[in-house]
Amino acid sequence: MYLTDQEKKMLQGEYGAPVQKAMEILVHLGDFYGAEKMIAVRNVHMPGSSAIVAGKAGIRFVELMGNEGGLFCTLTTLNTAAVDLLDWRDLGFPEQYYHDQARLTRAYKKMGGVGCHTCIPYLSGNLPRFGEHIAWGESSAIAFVNSVVGARTNREGGPSALAAALTGRVPLYGYHLDENRAGQVRINVTAKLKGAFDYGTLGYYVGKQCQELIPVFTGLPSNITIDELKMLSAALASSGSVALFHVVGITPEAPTLEAAFRGKAALMEIEFGRTEYESTIAQLNKSRTNRVDLVVIGCPHASIDEIKLIAENLYENKTNSAVDFWITTAIGNKEIASRNGYLEIIEKAGARLVCDTCPILGPTAAMIGTKGYNAIATNSAKLAHYIPGQWDIGSHYGSFEQCIKAAITGVWGDEK
Ligand code: F3S
Repeated sequence: MYLTDQEKKMLQGEYGAPVQKAMEILVHLGDFYGAEKMIAVRNVHMPGSSAIVAGKAGIRFVELMGNEGGLFCTLTTLNTAAVDLLDWRDLGFPEQYYHDQARLTRAYKKMGGVGCHTCIPYLSGNLPRFGEHIAWGESSAIAFVNSVVGARTNREGGPSALAAALTGRVPLYGYHLDENRAGQVRINVTAKLKGAFDYGTLGYYVGKQCQELIPVFTGLPSNITIDELKMLSAALASSGSVALFHVVGITPEAPTLEAAFRGKAALMEIEFGRTEYESTIAQLNKSRTNRVDLVVIGCPHASIDEIKLIAENLYENKTNSAVDFWITTAIGNKEIASRNGYLEIIEKAGARLVCDTCPILGPTAAMIGTKGYNAIATNSAKLAHYIPGQWDIGSHYGSFEQCIKAAITGVWGDEK
């Protein structure tokens, strides 16, 4: 592939060993995907920011890059971590995971990483502009930023995102190119949808059908919210590998149906009505018991609007003493929640704002053992999808209101 003089110097080691290693990774990647050249990026969101995902070898590699003088030349935000870095002890996270996470976070920060530890960087200080080339990891954030913001990223893994942060480059291929951003599957939504849970259900169904193809949604209301689009993005990227979607009349590359398809024909057409909606909910409910031990809202991390709504619903209520209720979010949201009194209401009710981490990227397996959880309830299709595959535990999947009710009663639905 074509390299500029500066990129050649990076590859030859003139900018130090970490940049050289990074450029080698990017050139291999570019050659594999047939990229003609590199493009500049100034914005990276780093997957592999959880010490559990990175593992001991990953932590050592990141430390090595920093110790050899590696410095990020892009805004580089860190994705979700393995533990709540402040309240880990109180929440019952095993100590070893805290120490591993602290090491990894320190290593990234040494190179210039921003330790916001969230999967909603776009709501936490890292919002690229329309059309900007970026290098992001974390499937839900990738789908959101490609589709709702109209920035351009491939699905970066830990090594390629690290390489992009060290060099400010990515190979030009995939979703960076106009021709790979055309819609491929038309989705006619006839079911009436309201709330993030409904959009997660839609995304889960469509992700399964589309896999890596690009869906184009028609029939969605013009008042769809950011939280609904956030949930749609996460679900599309969990049952499938959708990294880009269009919503006609809503997302920036789809002012019209024709524009969304860039003049091409749809490969297939899918209907999402009441039947598909109900069968998807049934698929994601996999529990042998109607008891609930842990309720989780905040996958993707909860926005301040969602936290406010939870506080309103928990006001003068108490969660069941046998239930842990986690609202997973970014640390900045906890501070805002505290200043506005939401945190006090939530904690008084017995629920917790859990920052930096989430059940999937945290040491949930270890905690299931020590806490004796049998079933988790959530309003997130992504989390409900991963629960049965990751742990021998039941999953209850339902609306925000159903989850709050379960946290209060300790039971899913009506007690039998
Ligand atoms: Fe975020 Fe963890 Fe869910 S990274 S999207 S809260 S699985």
